[in-house]
Amino acid sequence: MISRVKNSLTLPRDRVEMYLLLNLFALFYQAAASDPEMSINVPQMIQRWGYPVEELGAITEDGYCITIFRIPRGINSLDSGCKRPPVLMDHSLLCDSSEFVMNPRDSSPAMALADAGFDVFLMNHRGTTYSTKHRGLNTNTSKFWEFTMDEYGQYDNPAAIDLILSTTGERSIYYIGHSQGALLGMTMLAERPEYNQKIRSLFLIAPANGHSCRGFCGLLSRFYALVKPMLDVYVNTLGSHEVAFASRLIPQTVMDVFCTSPYIKMICQGWTTLTMGPPAKTFNYSRWPIYVSHLPSGTSTWNLLHWGQLSSTNIIAHFDHSPNGNMKRYGQLSAPPYNLAQVRVPVHIFWSDSDWLARWEDVESAILPQIRSEFIKGIYEIDSYDHLDYVTATDNAEKVFSRIIGEVRKQEKEMCEQ
Ligand SMILES: *[C@@H]1O[C@H](CO)[C@@H](O)[C@H](O)[C@H]1NC(C)=O
Ligand SMILES: *[C@@H]1O[C@H](CO)[C@@H](O)[C@H](O)[C@H]1NC(C)=O
Repeated sequence: MISRVKNSLTLPRDRVEMYLLLNLFALFYQAAASDPEMSINVPQMIQRWGYPVEELGAITEDGYCITIFRIPRGINSLDSGCKRPPVLMDHSLLCDSSEFVMNPRDSSPAMALADAGFDVFLMNHRGTTYSTKHRGLNTNTSKFWEFTMDEYGQYDNPAAIDLILSTTGERSIYYIGHSQGALLGMTMLAERPEYNQKIRSLFLIAPANGHSCRGFCGLLSRFYALVKPMLDVYVNTLGSHEVAFASRLIPQTVMDVFCTSPYIKMICQGWTTLTMGPPAKTFNYSRWPIYVSHLPSGTSTWNLLHWGQLSSTNIIAHFDHSPNGNMKRYGQLSAPPYNLAQVRVPVHIFWSDSDWLARWEDVESAILPQIRSEFIKGIYEIDSYDHLDYVTATDNAEKVFSRIIGEVRKQEKEMCEQ
């Protein structure tokens, strides 16, 4: 008798809960789909906060058209003719220029730098959302995707820098790279040492090769070493392909439900930690749905495999095409390491112990011994930042970018106050 009463009471209540849960999910789903910051592109994100924005295109020596966004000045500054040093901001793996403008203006690095008096240029490497054109190749061909970060450094960055110099009439620029972008600052100079003259300083934020990375990255790195022989067969017989992220709505909804709801937020925190490290206290979980509406951005399967190689070997080398392919491309059986001793500009390195992808051990073993010590001008440890916090934590302007601004002001004789 008692049990029947119980049943008749609990069953409908279950249904009500299920109904409420479904409704809540639908609500989140709509919210995720309708927030204006999720359906606009990078220029619109910049304009939304009141900044001027320009879209420029550069053609690389190997025929890719890459898009560069420019924020020529800050929100309140007039075009007064004072000096605005140009800065190129280069994004990380599976990201594009959106990573520098995803936050409200005081914690969006690109906007903070524009307000500080810089002429800001934002890179979008070949194969990312904003750079999918080539003079002769279509993205539906494997040939289009036959590139890795080797080509980013050898072709995309020089093309972007030359475009900036011809647009501004300046003779050199500052370079800020995050993660892959940080590595590219160095590999570009190793590959094209003549560009040393065109760089005033390199600011390397979380330069990574992933060798000691933890969490999911650590697992993937070990798995990569196991399956490399199979992957070599893929590279040599099937070429390279697009790594694309077709649906934005599902990750947005998942993030919205898991990262913003009070009781299940822990799941989101755990996921973030395993992916990038324990997040900063100043990470704004409510913005996860916005971040995943812009990222991840595209790249090629070869580039991901190149990262697998960097991470499993701890050597910053060119893409290993296996002995046959290496012989054809490099004239030797193994992939040649980059000669980082070619870097001859002031270098500043930012890192954090909470960053599970770019570990200090790797900077110390794979990067520092190779760069001439007279060019290392600053090493800055940032307290409690995971790999994404440099661009997402709400105090990133104060912890990271104000230091960069300070260093540049020391190096420049004359610079706009705003
Ligand atoms: C690739 O795209 C081009 C232009 O959009 C089209 O003409 C061509 O047939 C496509 N090729 C394949 C293999 O799908
Ligand atoms: C956190 O994100 C929400 C959602 O986008 C936003 O409304 C709020 O202003 C953000 N807070 C900070 C401190 O940036």
